[in-house]
Amino acid sequence: MNEVCSQVNDALERFLPEDWQVPAVLKDSMLYSLTAGGKRLRPLLVIAAAESLGGSREAAMPVACAVEMIHTYSLIHDDLPAMDNDDFRRGKPTNHKVYGEAAAILAGDGLLTHAFYSIAQASSRYHVPAEQTLAIVEELARYAGPAGMVGGQAADMEAEQGRTDLDGLRYIHEHKTGDLIVFALKAGARIASASPSQLLALERFGRSVGLAFQIQDDILDLTGDESKLGKSTQSDLKMQKVTYPYFLGLEASREEVAKLTSEARAVIADAGIPDPGRLLEISDFLLKRDH
Ligand code: IPE
Ligand code: IPE
Ligand code: MG
Ligand code: MG
Ligand code: MG
Repeated sequence: MNEVCSQVNDALERFLPEDWQVPAVLKDSMLYSLTAGGKRLRPLLVIAAAESLGGSREAAMPVACAVEMIHTYSLIHDDLPAMDNDDFRRGKPTNHKVYGEAAAILAGDGLLTHAFYSIAQASSRYHVPAEQTLAIVEELARYAGPAGMVGGQAADMEAEQGRTDLDGLRYIHEHKTGDLIVFALKAGARIASASPSQLLALERFGRSVGLAFQIQDDILDLTGDESKLGKSTQSDLKMQKVTYPYFLGLEASREEVAKLTSEARAVIADAGIPDPGRLLEISDFLLKRDH
């Protein structure tokens, strides 16, 4: 995981080159959040899915970078005063605390747009078939857009303690967080020319891992260590958010994470995936994560 993370970090910097003709504050604010660290989970999943099916890491890298750009934009906007109003992210002051709200909004817009440019540009450079690139771009737009992550964030903004029920929360979690995780796995699989049944298995794996990941995020908001997480805890309490621990309590939420993780592992075990080891290791890492 460390090796892939450092390759992803290098590749991300190449997508925002030093001689890029872009207003300095825009480039600096995009790079500030992109290079602040983070677990790089979504790129790891793109690459693990591709490699589990014999695909190449090099061909998967531009898509891995693109999903990290989209994720980072979503964090910059999520932290804005109009959304979760948070001051720390990835161990540093949030983007708007350093660059101001207008620059932070534009840094997010820039990362969102540049993600699509990077996929299309790399496709011609690495001779990825146009049909495959089109399918990946279409899915990224769907999973990151109004029917996906943006829709989940919109529902999250409307949700209220006392009004939103557990099914409503499940919708929020599946979209605001699950959808990009599902995208990452399917895109990696597409790069390795997955069969329809392999794609479906990775989608189901991603659904379970994605929901487990956001439940664990809710748990860590209550119980985590700020210095390990790199963000402030108790943010959900401050904003009176509905969360899994709010509905089920901490213990049942932890059991749900364990149950979803074992369901995810079972899907992968019978899916005819030649080399599932890394995917299983990542699911195990996520179950135990404290940051
Ligand atoms: C945080 O995501 C926001 C959620 C969708 C839960 P991560 O926990 O993956 O954040 P980084 O990328 O490691 O900073
Ligand atoms: C954020 O969920 C999901 C997205 C950014 C799409 P949270 O609001 O729970 O994420 P954190 O806890 O701020 O990282
Ligand atoms: Mg939020
Ligand atoms: Mg937040
Ligand atoms: Mg959270």
